[in-house]
Amino acid sequence: MVELQRLVGLLPPRVRDQVDSYLETLEVMAEMKDPRVRSALLPSGVRGLLLRRGKQGVPTRIPSSHEAHFDWTYPSDQPAMAELYRRAKQGQWDGESLPWATSVDPLNPEVPILPEDFVNLRRLEDEGVRLDAKEKQAFLYSMTSWLLSQFLHGEQGALFAAAQVTEAVQFFDGKLYGATQVMDEGRHVEVFHRYLDQKLEKLYQINDNLFVIIDALMSDGRWDMKFLGMQIMVEGLALGAFGMLYRQTHEPLLKELLKRVIQDEARHVHYGVLALREQYTKELTERERQEREDWAFEVALLMRNRFMAYEVFEEWFEGRISRARWRELVLEAPGLHQFRQVMFSRLVPNLREIGLLTPRVMPRYEAVGLMKYFHGAAADQLTAEQLLGDPAPPSAAA
Ligand SMILES: [Fe+2]
Ligand SMILES: [Fe+2]
Repeated sequence: MVELQRLVGLLPPRVRDQVDSYLETLEVMAEMKDPRVRSALLPSGVRGLLLRRGKQGVPTRIPSSHEAHFDWTYPSDQPAMAELYRRAKQGQWDGESLPWATSVDPLNPEVPILPEDFVNLRRLEDEGVRLDAKEKQAFLYSMTSWLLSQFLHGEQGALFAAAQVTEAVQFFDGKLYGATQVMDEGRHVEVFHRYLDQKLEKLYQINDNLFVIIDALMSDGRWDMKFLGMQIMVEGLALGAFGMLYRQTHEPLLKELLKRVIQDEARHVHYGVLALREQYTKELTERERQEREDWAFEVALLMRNRFMAYEVFEEWFEGRISRARWRELVLEAPGLHQFRQVMFSRLVPNLREIGLLTPRVMPRYEAVGLMKYFHGAAADQLTAEQLLGDPAPPSAAA
């Protein structure tokens, strides 16, 4: 691999970066050891990472097929989901009620939206790329818009996934609860889009890794896969990211927006844990559960790659530094590093709680440094207030 990278380094910049993106895709694909997982994720991987379907204009059509599950007896079958439904009805809010009159200037260093050390720009100077104070602020503005754009695209995925799961799930109390989640996700699309459109005036295209996951969820006919992918993986990680941004941003409108969204998302992840724990511990065969274990691990790796911000690299540094060097900078950036830590500290306990972190897969999590979060609290044990605070430090035992 080192020899290969040396050869790649000799290519002209554009070709070199293109080859780097193919090699990275191959690396992700090579990680998929289970043939069932590979055949479930590979077509989405080809569409998202090689054909870059998410960036080919509007609309993106993704075929989906799942069974709608009707029940004409309307059973009260899941008291914990019925309780969440009650709370969700009472927790509804209007996106219009946020303080939209707040003036937001992403170029004003006095009210930073993201902390300055989000990416360590000093390391760029080693590469001969120097940004003056104005450019640094503009770069941070790009990173902010990029990050919030990915949140928005994730919310669109969550809206459609919530609608599909509401049709397909077998729990009747879950369907009623699901209706509130569809409304919640619609509101999240509304408020993130309004913030990007009116306050930042800059929207980025969907990140290829995020596209792969959304494509895979939409096209998989099994409701629990949609659920696992969206409620536990995409939303579970987003919840960590929202919480961290909420604590770090100094921009009051965004802070209020995130606070409200986090309160909704806490219910969504809680529901995901309830529904999947029921399904995975009572309904699935051992073999079916193992497939979910492997799938969750692969998707966790894809999610980790989701935060490489290549779209910002292409805008700012393409031709000035290599794509591979950018990846290194992002991996060691203090802000983004902390982001990944917080996100996985939320995700791993949820995977444990729904029964997908068994001794069979633990060594794989250990190998990528994620087992240290094993003993954290899962979503059904956390209140929205706790989610707004700092996560507990990872267990020393790991
Ligand atoms: Fe959402
Ligand atoms: Fe959600």
